[in-house]
Amino acid sequence: MSDAAEPATAFAGARVVITGGLGFIGSTLALRLAELGADLLLIDNLCPDYGGNLFNVAPIRDRVSIEIADIRDVRGMRALLGGCRYLFNLAAQTSHMDSMTDPETDLAINCRAQLTLLEACRDICPEARVVYASTRQIYGRPHYLPVDEKHPLHPVDVNGVNKMAGEAYHILFHDVYGVRATALRLTNTYGPRMRIKDARQTFVGVWLRAVLEGRRFEVWNGTQLRDLTYVDDAVEAFLLAALAPAAEGAVFNIGGDCLRLAALADAVVAANGGGGFETRDFPAERKRIDIGDYYADDTGFRELTGWRPRVAAAEGLRRSLDYFRTHLAEYL
Ligand SMILES: NC(=O)c1ccc[n+]([C@@H]2O[C@H](COP(=O)([O-])OP(=O)(O)OC[C@H]3O[C@@H](n4cnc5c(N)ncnc54)[C@H](O)[C@@H]3O)[C@@H](O)[C@H]2O)c1
Repeated sequence: MSDAAEPATAFAGARVVITGGLGFIGSTLALRLAELGADLLLIDNLCPDYGGNLFNVAPIRDRVSIEIADIRDVRGMRALLGGCRYLFNLAAQTSHMDSMTDPETDLAINCRAQLTLLEACRDICPEARVVYASTRQIYGRPHYLPVDEKHPLHPVDVNGVNKMAGEAYHILFHDVYGVRATALRLTNTYGPRMRIKDARQTFVGVWLRAVLEGRRFEVWNGTQLRDLTYVDDAVEAFLLAALAPAAEGAVFNIGGDCLRLAALADAVVAANGGGGFETRDFPAERKRIDIGDYYADDTGFRELTGWRPRVAAAEGLRRSLDYFRTHLAEYL
């Protein structure tokens, strides 16, 4: 394990900026950092197609600064980064299907705006620790399992190509300009505050919504392997990455609980105490951009930071359903 500061004390009083801070993972990170005493600025454009939701940060609304701003706005970003010590860069267009129907928007947010942010960072807060939310999508269809960081990158959709470029810019700016960036390649992340309105974030969201509304949901194929990370585990990984000096300039897989989709569907029904699903073939337009089986080898991050996922799927699904049962109206 590395010689890193402890999350319990390191963020107290520190200026922390989260792009995408009103989104699913960004807001959960914000709640945790508020608990740790950080001086928080959340940047989000609240585009209705994405996962941003002011309700996500309701418990800390009076303790954080919120800027409804767009990371594509070069001057705006420069004005907001003054004094930033930690930049958690999570703002993104996350829908794989939308990236195929509107590739230019995906390019603008997931690629070009990343360059904008890094240029601003280099000028305005060159000492800031930067953690970028990358994705396992950039590997494409795995050649072997579990997938480690040495696996070739061969994205199967526009989103994957742009996220790959966004990640590469972070590492390039580290190597060339000394920007203190780390990239975490997340897998399917789920939990309270995720977007459940539609499948733009992950299929898990629509499954949760369906069982809560007493409807059956669809499982495509069902034999595929996925690993699922509960959001609190992902948040812990962001905090530890930001504090590990040896993580600067590096990329890490972050995994979770590995199971077949049919088993996951059973777990959703069990966690809800009822419900059902149908198994069918992949729709053709989805099949073309599907990655098949995936689960991560995240040994590198575990060994460096001592991190490991702590919340198994059964428990994470139960917590998620409890949350949405209470707050469903805020997410539809
Ligand atoms: N949830 C997952 O399973 C998963 C998996 C792999 C990677 N990731 C990555 O994690 C990050 C967070 O994802 P999430 O699941 O919380 O999604 P999310 O949609 O809930 O969060 C993204 C946030 O970014 C904001 N945003 C989008 N474009 C913006 C722009 N131009 N300017 C300002 N804000 C903008 C959105 O409004 C949203 O609140 C993303 O970078 C995503 O690619 C997520």
